[in-house]
Amino acid sequence: MFRVRQKLIRRAVVNQTRSRHAYPSKDVRRLFIEYFQNQHDHLFVPSSSVIPQRKGEGTYFTNAGMNQFKPLFLGAVPPGSLMANYKRVVNSQKCIRVGGKHNDLDDVGHDLSHHTFFEMLGNWSFGDYFKRESCKMALELLTDVYKLPRERLYFTYFHGDATLNLPPDIESQTIWLELGIPESQILPFGMKDNFWDMGDTGPCGPCTEIHYDHIGEGGGAKLVNMDSSDVVEIWNLVFMQYNRFEILFLRPLANHHVDTGLGLERLTAVLKGSKSNYDTDLFSPLFETIHDVSN
Ligand code: SER
Repeated sequence: MFRVRQKLIRRAVVNQTRSRHAYPSKDVRRLFIEYFQNQHDHLFVPSSSVIPQRKGEGTYFTNAGMNQFKPLFLGAVPPGSLMANYKRVVNSQKCIRVGGKHNDLDDVGHDLSHHTFFEMLGNWSFGDYFKRESCKMALELLTDVYKLPRERLYFTYFHGDATLNLPPDIESQTIWLELGIPESQILPFGMKDNFWDMGDTGPCGPCTEIHYDHIGEGGGAKLVNMDSSDVVEIWNLVFMQYNRFEILFLRPLANHHVDTGLGLERLTAVLKGSKSNYDTDLFSPLFETIHDVSN
């Protein structure tokens, strides 16, 4: 009797959680892809396998959307191949981060927003648009399509690095200001947070990130990049400008490219008004099954 009652209570809680899923993850994904396809002429390219197809990719598993596009950044695509026509692309990449440079294992289970396996929504420019257009599109999608309030968004940019002789990314800072973001919501950070590379060598560049403040009382700035579940990074806009050969040797790329990554699980949680990715329809059916099977 007790067991049956427990089961009924659990079902009710799960159903209650379900009905709060105002924005199912499949709609979050669809709106992203449609926005770039229909409003900005991007071509949809399916996710590549989580097992890298080419040898020497530098990772055991696909750890970012950019992996399948690496030859495009390096100008190494054979003429006449399908990829040679890619200019503007949109995708949703399945990623695994369990080792190497981008290893999330230490965070999984300790916070509400890191997973070993996750899905990254991305828009790409291969020698086409660059910083201004990508910032403008990101802001428009978040505020006009997903209707996130501007005052809850924080924007970070690269403050430069003397060792690598890299200048601060004042251009990104200026673009956000020109797009009407108050100075207090635009923050500089260093290599760890605002310079992105796939591995120890290869294409890389400064990035500008968008963080979401779950609290919304105006005090989010001090929690950006502080591992707080109150303010989480949702979107990383990387500006591929360099090729790294050794730890301290970067050469400018012939063309400039854009690589963005927006966490599907995080955005779905944000749109649901929850701090926890586990509280979304991407996870709750799994928990329900585990509860049922394990009683
Ligand atoms: N490559 C960047 C990342 O993985 C943006 O897509 O965060």
